[in-house]
Amino acid sequence: MIYKRALRPLLFSRDAEWAHEYTLEMLRHIPSAAARLGGPVVTHKALQTEVAGIKFPNPVGLAAGCDKNAVAIRVWPRFGFGFVEVGTITAEAQPGNPKPRVFRIPREEAIVNRLGFNNDGCEVVAHRIAALRRGRSLPTPLAVNIGKTRRISGDTAVLNDYKESLRRFARLADFIVVNVSSPNTPGLRDWLQSSRLHDLLSALKNEANAIALQKGGTPVPLMVKVSPDMEPDDLKAAADTAIACGMAGIVATNTTITRPDSLSDFGEAGGLSGRPLKERSLTVLRTLYSHCGGSIPLIGVGGISNAEDAYERIRAGASLVQIYTAMIYNGPYAAKSINLGLLKLMERDGIKSVSQIIGADS
Ligand SMILES: Cc1cc2nc3c(=O)[nH]c(=O)nc-3n(C[C@H](O)[C@H](O)[C@H](O)COP(=O)(O)O)c2cc1C
Repeated sequence: MIYKRALRPLLFSRDAEWAHEYTLEMLRHIPSAAARLGGPVVTHKALQTEVAGIKFPNPVGLAAGCDKNAVAIRVWPRFGFGFVEVGTITAEAQPGNPKPRVFRIPREEAIVNRLGFNNDGCEVVAHRIAALRRGRSLPTPLAVNIGKTRRISGDTAVLNDYKESLRRFARLADFIVVNVSSPNTPGLRDWLQSSRLHDLLSALKNEANAIALQKGGTPVPLMVKVSPDMEPDDLKAAADTAIACGMAGIVATNTTITRPDSLSDFGEAGGLSGRPLKERSLTVLRTLYSHCGGSIPLIGVGGISNAEDAYERIRAGASLVQIYTAMIYNGPYAAKSINLGLLKLMERDGIKSVSQIIGADS
């Protein structure tokens, strides 16, 4: 309530990216205040789940793009997130596209962004995560989302570029998400096509195995993030490739470059997220779940804004869900309120554990 009445009007009176960066700076520099504003990690035995061998206190994660540079990884769990995905991080630091490049659409509870992987680069972010982890375990699992450096071209160079990021994060992340689905890096989505996807994912899987052999421990689980703009056959082929290459999961979905009729007059290019993406992401998830029959875990993301949406996504086949845009519109406690709502829905339906309902409606 306070967020919608007081804080949101203030933040929405400023440029979207500026407001975001300002909020992150506050969280970064006053983590103790943020911790007081937040609370303990939200958990309950009905919400706890295990995916890819990783234990999650609750199934609602922070989607990639919100904390690109991993500056506030200790803070998000305080606001109810059961896991945090940072990034996209590229091997080289880069500034991204010219500003303005993030646009709110309040009437649709949506955002269009064309940031283009602005980030500090894998070396700086890896040092930051190492410093934040040192001596203390993180309150929730951490995923690192890796992408292609914009200036890199040529298949071998692109593979090496991804591998460099993987090497940096393999021992710092609980799992890695391979991003080949952002619409704002030219040519990136070409890597979703089966044979190139196979080359990329198998190279990264081999690298993860080699790192584990060399340094000890088990290979870091890898997941791949897909686009909501893929045709069903391409999606199924990508899922088969992900399974064949030993991926531990599929994140569905990234933002869309399509526009619904209600946004046909919206002139800014970029990826659309939030409410107008919901049905499309849900359809992609259903396609993947019915094709894979539960043989690979799915993370559902795109337009989830309340407990009903999260419940529907899990019942459609998601083992975990993520949100980003809903937090911009509903405030920092969005994840907490989704979790509390999930508990109520499960109680209503006599469900004892969230893992019991994965794919129940498929
Ligand atoms: C401003 C913004 C930046 C984003 N940056 C990234 C990114 O760097 N990497 C990525 O994989 N997804 C990125 N995303 C996509 C989100 O992770 C998510 O897939 C998408 O927004 C759909 O979820 P939502 O509707 O809950 O926001 C970004 C989204 C937004 C709104």
